Amino acid sequence: MKIAIAADHGGYGLKQALMAYYHNKNQDIKLEDLGTYSEESCDYPDVVKPVVAEVLNKQCDFGILICGTGVGISIAANRYKGIRAALVYNEFVAQVVKEHNNANILVFGGRTMTLEEVVRYIEIFNATSFEGGRHNRRIEKLDKI
Ligand code: RB5
Repeated sequence: MKIAIAADHGGYGLKQALMAYYHNKNQDIKLEDLGTYSEESCDYPDVVKPVVAEVLNKQCDFGILICGTGVGISIAANRYKGIRAALVYNEFVAQVVKEHNNANILVFGGRTMTLEEVVRYIEIFNATSFEGGRHNRRIEKLDKI
């Protein structure tokens, strides 16, 4: 499985921790690091584009974006048609954003979440299937907005 990942400076530390975790402990999941590459301050609207492009071009299974809270980078990613970026903040949400929203980007807060929590949310998301049916109809409506 390939996951495209990017963060601003507020999410840089958590991104690096996830990169190390999957490199060392779970070789089945490959993270592609699309920036930012240091703790130097940068603007979250600027860092979403490479992940959005990979998701929309189906070059990865899904994307991960991280800023300080997860809020700014969610807003930025959801400006792009076809993107369903979900800020996941507990285990129930990790499940339902796949079942109902078929999220194609998971968003986390680098200043509000731990590595262990985020790894668990990714595991739950990966173990869950999209339910389709009425949820497909709702997603199609999103793309018409
Ligand atoms: C950066 O300081 C911070 O504002 C950003 O990472 C994010 O939390 C915005 O929503």
